[in-house]
Parts: sequence; structure tokens; C-alpha cells
Amino acid sequence: MEDARAALRREREGRTDLDWEEAVRGELEDYYRAGKPPWDTDVTPPELVALVEGPDALPPGRALELGCGTGTNATYLARHGWEVVAVDLIDRAVRQAREKVDAAGAAVQVLCGDATRLDELDVPGPYDLFFDLSCYCGIPPHRRDAYAAGLTRRAAPGARLLMFGYGPEAFDDPISGVTADELRARFAGWETVEVTPGTNEVPTFWFTLRRDSDAFGRR
Ligand SMILES: C[S@@+](CC[C@H](N)C(=O)[O-])C[C@H]1O[C@@H](n2cnc3c(N)ncnc32)[C@H](O)[C@@H]1O
Repeated sequence: MEDARAALRREREGRTDLDWEEAVRGELEDYYRAGKPPWDTDVTPPELVALVEGPDALPPGRALELGCGTGTNATYLARHGWEVVAVDLIDRAVRQAREKVDAAGAAVQVLCGDATRLDELDVPGPYDLFFDLSCYCGIPPHRRDAYAAGLTRRAAPGARLLMFGYGPEAFDDPISGVTADELRARFAGWETVEVTPGTNEVPTFWFTLRRDSDAFGRR
């Protein structure tokens, strides 16, 4: 196993950043082209349901979903009173998300674009909630600061980020994955308020971050 990881790391090191981004995009396109991807369960996770409907539910506001896939959770949020924008990199996913949203009669703006290049999209915010269900953990490391900066610029004071991510151990490629320490270091001006292990066979986590409440306008 270690040999395979070392070989992958060497392969990665020989790639340019752009090669890497294109490889990730190609893999994602292949998944959607092949049919229903393995992550596309049509089920809204209980962690999001708790945030929206639980005893300490957030009041509905404006939400931005990063890596929305086929739109299950954006639809869920809209049906619970949230004003939702949902972004995905892959055109096929976006088309399916729009169909799902329309079929549910929900009002969600679904955009095709890169969660690390939000300035290229019409998503000024501010948002009260960011939701990321295993998008960030697959983003190449050289794009992650841009992801964090994009959310930070669009966060209302006290905004939440609810993120599910696979730990680095879950990947054959040891450079992908996400840890709480990484998020703490990368999301300046945010507090990591909760880290809960997921129930998967490989290491996974639910992270809740909160933007400082006196932070409006600060980058
Ligand atoms: C593991 S899938 C999860 C999809 C969806 N959140 C779900 O759980 O059904 C990751 C999603 O993030 C999208 N994605 C990956 N990198 C992205 C990026 N840089 N910007 C926007 N979306 C991205 C992929 O196309 C894919 O739909």
C-alpha cells in the first residue's frame, strides 16, 4: 500500500496544477457520464436536517451549496424556506440538478462553475449558510485557499459552513482529503465549532465552522 501511495505522489508531483485540475474534472465527468454516481443517494443527511429542522435550527436565510451534484440538498433547503444558490463544476450534474429542482417546484439557482472561482459567477452573497457534501475534500490543494477566500468574502456575520469530508486516509492519493487542522489553518476569521466523525468505514468527518460575528466586510 505504501508503495502505491508513494508512486501516486510521484505521479502527482510530475503534474502541473492545471493537469491536476483537468484530471479531477475528467474523473468527475466520467462518473456522471456513466450514470448515477455512487454518492448520489437522493437522501439528505441527518446533519443537514438537524441544522434546518432540529431544536437549534438556523432561521432560514441565504444558502450557497458547493458541489451540489444532482441537487438533492439544494432542493431540500429551498423547500424549507432557504433562498438557495447551488454550484457544481460538471455540466451533466447541473442539468440533472435543474431537473430535480424543477420537478420539486423549488426555487434554486443552479450554476455551473468552480467553487474555487466564485468571482466568475454571479454569487455576491452574503450567505448565512454554506453547505459542502464531499466537494472540498477532492479539490486540489493549490485551489483550496481560493475556496476559503471565496466563502469568507461572501459570509454574513456568524455564517455557518457545514462540510462533510473524507480524511486523507480514505484516499489512495495521500494529498486529497481534509482534516480539522487544515480547515482551522485555512479559514482565517472562522471558528471550528464542531467536528464529528462520520459513520463510514473509512475516516470521514462533519465539520461545522462559524464566521466571526463581527466580521462583515473583513476578508
Ligand atoms: C462526491 S460528489 C458529491 C455531490 C453532492 N454533494 C452529493 O453529495 O450528492 C462531489 C461534487 O462536487 C463537484 N465538484 C468537485 N470539484 C468542484 C469544484 N471545484 N467546484 C464545484 N463543484 C465541484 C463534483 O462535480 C461533484 O458533483
